[in-house]
Amino acid sequence: LSAEVEDQKDELQELLQTLDRQTNWNGTPLAKHNEFWLPTRFLRPILSTQKYFKAKDTDIILCTLPKSGTTWLKSLTFCIVTRNIYTIDQSPLLTSNPHTIVPFFESNVYSEQENPDLEHIPSPRIFSTHIPFNILPNSIRESQCKVIYICRNPLDQFISFRHFILSNKEKDVEPLSMDEAFNMFCQGIDMFGPFWDHVLGYWNAHLNDPQKMLFLKYEDLKEDITLNIKKIAEFLGLPFSLEEENQGKIEEISRFCSNESLSNMEVNKTGMLLGQTKNSSYFRKGEVGDWTNYLTSTMAERMKKLMESKLEGSGLMF
Ligand code: A3P
Repeated sequence: LSAEVEDQKDELQELLQTLDRQTNWNGTPLAKHNEFWLPTRFLRPILSTQKYFKAKDTDIILCTLPKSGTTWLKSLTFCIVTRNIYTIDQSPLLTSNPHTIVPFFESNVYSEQENPDLEHIPSPRIFSTHIPFNILPNSIRESQCKVIYICRNPLDQFISFRHFILSNKEKDVEPLSMDEAFNMFCQGIDMFGPFWDHVLGYWNAHLNDPQKMLFLKYEDLKEDITLNIKKIAEFLGLPFSLEEENQGKIEEISRFCSNESLSNMEVNKTGMLLGQTKNSSYFRKGEVGDWTNYLTSTMAERMKKLMESKLEGSGLMF
């Protein structure tokens, strides 16, 4: 870690003492900052992002809750944006995991350095984050950069997250049971949660300025990926020409970025991210409704009521 990051530690310790604390079902320490439960290990990088990130008008920022389709969105956006630079058989995604290609602010860009030099990255720069909308750096809101958010049915997101954590867990950590974990999720005590507040922050921002913020749902992409690839390209000001459509460019990207295709690439079968997360753990079933295999109808009913009350009047539904 750089000296400046070491210096920031005291400041962080002081802040932490003023915040509510919790432990997530898998043992991750959380702190409540601006109404969101943030993993304490990301607090310093999040504060650095807020303080130092200077968005350019050409930037593209991909925002999600974990396990909502981040990997898919990163791959699709990268392929759409670079389609005139790389043919599919030269794609960097063949040899690098999507999370290496599109880094997270909190776990990559600002994790080692407080104020890294990002000027050398060629435009359009693509970054991603789980940071809630109200904690994003001001320059993202103030610049003309584009923001894409993808969310997912909360029950599938919860189950997907549980699998992800358990497949990467250290052997001596004993996570809470499904019942206990679900109970915490419903209380909003969840990484980057409460779920509903995270989603609503971006939903309202999308309603305020749809040119700036595209709001997607995982389920919609599963239902019609062609339409959604076109939507993303148009939103980014890079629509597919008729000629590209006739050449089958959209289908090519859709096939290349599918769960099956990406998960079968050697780098995603064997590689590791930051030496601790298996690349393979970012790919599982990729289905809608997998929660039915794990959660009871009573749990689903509880979530339905919770969502109805939390999202009431917003125009958003799951
Ligand atoms: P499941 O665990 O339900 O299978 P994230 O990318 O935000 O970490 O989310 C991971 C979830 O998205 C996992 O869901 C994973 O299988 C699914 N996923 C990853 N890559 C995908 C892709 N290319 N297409 C569709 N789903 C994908």
